[in-house]
Amino acid sequence: MKLKKLLATGLAAIMVMGLVGCSSSKGSESTESTDKLQQIKDAGVLKVGTSAEYSPYEFHKVVDGEDKIVGFDDFVVQEIAKDMGVKVEYEDMDFDGLLGALQADKVDIVLAGMTPDEKRRKSVDFSEIYYTNSNVCIVAKGKEDTIKKSEDLKDLKVGVQKGTTQADYVTNTLGITNATQLKKIPDLMLELQNGKIDVIVTGKAVAEINVQKYDNIAIGNTTVGDEVAETAAAAIKKSGKGVDNTSFIKSVNDTIKRLQDSGDMDKYMQEALKLAE
Ligand code: ARG
Repeated sequence: MKLKKLLATGLAAIMVMGLVGCSSSKGSESTESTDKLQQIKDAGVLKVGTSAEYSPYEFHKVVDGEDKIVGFDDFVVQEIAKDMGVKVEYEDMDFDGLLGALQADKVDIVLAGMTPDEKRRKSVDFSEIYYTNSNVCIVAKGKEDTIKKSEDLKDLKVGVQKGTTQADYVTNTLGITNATQLKKIPDLMLELQNGKIDVIVTGKAVAEINVQKYDNIAIGNTTVGDEVAETAAAAIKKSGKGVDNTSFIKSVNDTIKRLQDSGDMDKYMQEALKLAE
């Protein structure tokens, strides 16, 4: 009896080991490619991290009774996924959590109007820049001329989105240490309307949409910082630990180039601005 039991246990153990061995070897043949692009193709899904409160880049809209993430980045990412032969799946989160999600492999790519600045380039890779814009001020109507140069911001109550290049600029370049930093642009708009802040520093396209949406606010007449400060690129986790992102980045860059060469990229921004109205 005892012996029988022992034999049975032993046999079961061998079978389990066999199964495990079998499934893991199968895995390495079919799915465990070190090529990130191949991994995404095998999964059939491109997991996209975004922060959908940055209209016209990405925002929520009810389309045919369904809540959807739409906007400029969505147009671009749908094309990126189409060229890879996979579908898009969004992870919507706070902007300052996006790169962490990328590092943790919760998402494959981040498209969120994200500027590929030197600080971020240390931790992640970026595609080519697919859109370039400037940063501007959103102010109360009638105050469009109060800010003549970026340094004038130092005397005002400034609001910026947390974790953004705009926050970095006002804090580290202008030395404004008490700027209001909130997670979402709509929250900043409310603070401006309530008079709790004097000015929001953000991208020009974002400002254009928001002044249409909210009463009594306007875009200031000065560009903040560099004319081309508000660039956007797709962020991708760096190669490492048996994963190579080379062909993934190339695929994304090929799509970007195709959209720029055909003029579709500019068309998408125009369409996104209309969608956001
Ligand atoms: N371009 C700026 C940055 O990279 C702001 C982007 C904010 N994007 C967003 N989806 N909220 O920091």
